[in-house]
Amino acid sequence: MDKQKIDLISAQDRGAVLHPFTHLKDFASGKLGDPTIVETGKGITITDATGREYIDGFAGLYCMNVGYGRTEVAEAISRQAHKLAYYHTYAAHTTDELARLSDRLVKMAPGKMSKVFYGLSGSDANETQAKLVWYYNNLRGLPKKKKIISRDRGYHGCSVVSGSMTGMSFYHDFMDLPVSGILRTGAAHHY
Ligand SMILES: Cc1ncc(COP(=O)(O)O)c(C=O)c1O
Repeated sequence: MDKQKIDLISAQDRGAVLHPFTHLKDFASGKLGDPTIVETGKGITITDATGREYIDGFAGLYCMNVGYGRTEVAEAISRQAHKLAYYHTYAAHTTDELARLSDRLVKMAPGKMSKVFYGLSGSDANETQAKLVWYYNNLRGLPKKKKIISRDRGYHGCSVVSGSMTGMSFYHDFMDLPVSGILRTGAAHHY
């Protein structure tokens, strides 16, 4: 990518994007330098707009478990988007792919797992876990059985309940977290 385009994207980004874990004022003013513009990915590596290659040890945010640039995955996404880009599961609506994937997951799952409930992220999965447990205990006539115990230093997400489960104060400070009912225990860490 040429320098002029990099400068334009950097300026647009500094002006319009709210980046987590980034000092807002220093980034917006340019004091922190340009953003890293990630352009392509292949296997375990990503390449930025200047052509510099990195081994992505973080795997995105720990979610690129099959690696970057998988043609068969891109083609499956494209096929599905052309056929049906979106539908919901409310009121017993389904699709061929959803039913087949769920059946496969349930067969692979340990113990007595019998249903799959879909979310869009780890945070909302953990939010749903808490709601299911609270709902279940209310139906059992145990409305006080609501406590959730999570570990210091554990990361469970950044939404209201999953962020409260997360055991690091910088995920809470100035955001009125943690919400009540989340208890804390020590980290499973020798030191
Ligand atoms: C153990 C764990 N739980 C929950 C989450 C939250 O997932 P997401 O970032 O998809 O909301 C993460 C994300 O890194 C995680 O590592």
